[in-house]
Amino acid sequence: MKKISLGTNALLFEDINQLSDVDKNLMKFAVKATKDAYAPYSKFSVGAALLMEDDTIITGNNQENAAYPSGMCAERVAIWKASSSFPNKKVKKIAIAAISSNKKLDRPVGPCGACRQSLFEYEVKQGKDVEVIFMGEVGNVIKTNSIASLLPFSFDSSYL
Ligand code: THU
Repeated sequence: MKKISLGTNALLFEDINQLSDVDKNLMKFAVKATKDAYAPYSKFSVGAALLMEDDTIITGNNQENAAYPSGMCAERVAIWKASSSFPNKKVKKIAIAAISSNKKLDRPVGPCGACRQSLFEYEVKQGKDVEVIFMGEVGNVIKTNSIASLLPFSFDSSYL
């Protein structure tokens, strides 16, 4: 037996203004996308913005449903919108922002486990890492190099 370690490295920025111009712009699209979220039940609006390889930006937001499990997270709305419209375009980065009317989100809101798995599928498919940048409404921003770094011991098609 031996101990192994799968540590995650991330960059922590004090706020959105510390990001590069490209990342800040992408995050602004994510923030803007929160405004069109359909979140009447949780009042928790999430926006996601994908920077594609041709520098176009595709956004998504969470879409809730009176039958709660039928709703969908912003990240999956965005990645499925991208993959269904442009199946051969690679994704360079995803920015995620969240705002709640219940409280001020002053720490980074990471993608949920199901979204990490869904995003990971496309990272593997395209053979190129996708940077992930996420924040709450205000305050710190986290940036990682890949989806894989958010998903240790991940499952992919190589097991099938
Ligand atoms: N939500 C997202 O859109 N992305 C996440 O990664 C976490 C949660 C949404 C789902 C639901 O509409 C609301 O936030 C509260 O869970």
